[in-house]
Order: sequence, then structure tokens, then C-alpha cells
Amino acid sequence: MHPLAFYRSTIGKKIIMGVTGLIGIAFVILHMAGNLQAFAGPRKLNAYGAMLHGPLNELLWVLRIILIVAVILHVLMAYQLTMRSRAARPIGYEHREPQVSTLAARTMKWGGVLLLAFIIFHILHFTTQTVDPAGMRGMTDVAGDRDVYGNIVASFQIWWVAVFYIAAMIALGLHLYHGAWSSIRTLGYAKASPNPLHRRIALVVAIVVWLGFTLVPLGVIAGIIR
Ligand code: HEM
Repeated sequence: MHPLAFYRSTIGKKIIMGVTGLIGIAFVILHMAGNLQAFAGPRKLNAYGAMLHGPLNELLWVLRIILIVAVILHVLMAYQLTMRSRAARPIGYEHREPQVSTLAARTMKWGGVLLLAFIIFHILHFTTQTVDPAGMRGMTDVAGDRDVYGNIVASFQIWWVAVFYIAAMIALGLHLYHGAWSSIRTLGYAKASPNPLHRRIALVVAIVVWLGFTLVPLGVIAGIIR
């Protein structure tokens, strides 16, 4: 199929959604695992940050570019597919109590919008430190590395920052539960199942990512990360 015809087709857009979503899942798994080093103390986490921004800077930029393209395509396809389905059925279905859809499926659109807002806030908070609720901009640790750890501790001690992150991780878990399942469906790896609500892999991915991320603010609140 010609690439442009692929891009214009509804299934092409769904495949782009699925592939870019899987790229996002790979990223969040790696990022979550990296963050858990917060439990190993400030030196470990800050040295990891310094390594990414120092010797591995070129790799970091390659990953950033892949991720930025993936996020833009993912959001654009979501928007275009929503517009298409709206155009195909300008008068919505009569509303009734959902029977087989999951909460995760029904919150894909608004959960996705919340996640996009979260990601923008999050980069301004931890990466550029433009938003600096804890006043940690420019701070370094004893080894002279940027104090990522200190920013995590000081930020999650602020109640609204902790609440926002914990809520966003719930949205992420739900989004992944539906997204992990539907992407492999779209890409044709999963066959139609007699038990469509039995989604073990998607459930494991969603719980591991949600819990792994959430442990960090919870660790600060509990005083384990301090
Ligand atoms: C409690 C949850 C999270 C914590 C504690 C956290 C922590 C951090 C920290 C400390 C950085 C800055 C690292 C550095 O500059 O050295 C960062 C960067 C980033 N995080 Fe998170 N993160 C969390 C959740 C997420 C989630 C759920 C996503 C995506 C959906 C995400 C996406 C990113 C991105 C895109 C960057 C920028 C990476 C770069 O280009 O440098 N984070 N995160």
C-alpha cells in the first residue's frame, strides 16, 4: 500500500496509534525502573541522571526524538480518529448504562488529555525545572550533580504535587490497561477471544507501571525516601 494511502486509511491511523502507544509503553517501563533507584538513595539516582545527561547525552537525544515523534503522532491520530467517528455518526448513540466496556476503555479520551497535560507539566517540573514548586532549581548534591533526588523529595512533600502525580498515575494505569490490549489487537497479534475481558498481559503491564511509578511519591510521603 502507498504510504500516503496507508496514513489516510482508518486502519492505518489505528496501526500508527498502536505502534506509537507501544513505544510509549516501552519508555514508561524503562523510566519507571530508572525512578525506582530513588530507593537506593541520592547518590545512585543523581549519578544515573548525570550519566544520561553526560556520557549518554547523544543516546538520550535519539530517544527523545523518537519519543516526541511518537507522542505527536499518537495524539494526532487520536484526534483524527475521534473526528472521523464523530463525522460517521453525527447523532450519538442513545445513552444507556455501559454493559461490556471497561472503565479503562471509556476514559481513553479524557484520560489521554489528562496524561498529555501531565507530561507537559512533568517536563517543565523535573527536566527544565521551569515550574519549580519546591524551589530546587540549580541545586546540586555533594558530588556536584544536579539534585534530581532532592527535587523528588521536596516536591512530593508538597501535597498538591503528590496528589497530582498519584492521580496522573491512576490515569496512566487505566490508559495502559486498555491501550496495551487494544494495540496488540489492532496489530493483529491477539486473536478474537471467547473471553475478551480476560487480558492478563495488559493487566500485568498496567499494574507494574502504575505501582512502580506510584511507589516513589508514596515512598516520600511515608518518609522512606527522604
Ligand atoms: C511518580 C512518577 C514519576 C517520577 C517521580 C518521574 C521523575 C522524573 C524525573 C526526575 C525526570 C528528570 C530526569 C532528569 O532530567 O535527569 C523525569 C523526566 C521525564 N519523565 Fe518522568 N517521572 C514520573 C512519571 C512519568 C510518566 C508517567 C511519564 C510519561 C507518561 C514521564 C515522562 C517523562 C519524560 C518524557 C521526561 C523527560 C526525559 C528527558 O527528555 O530528559 N514521567 N521524570
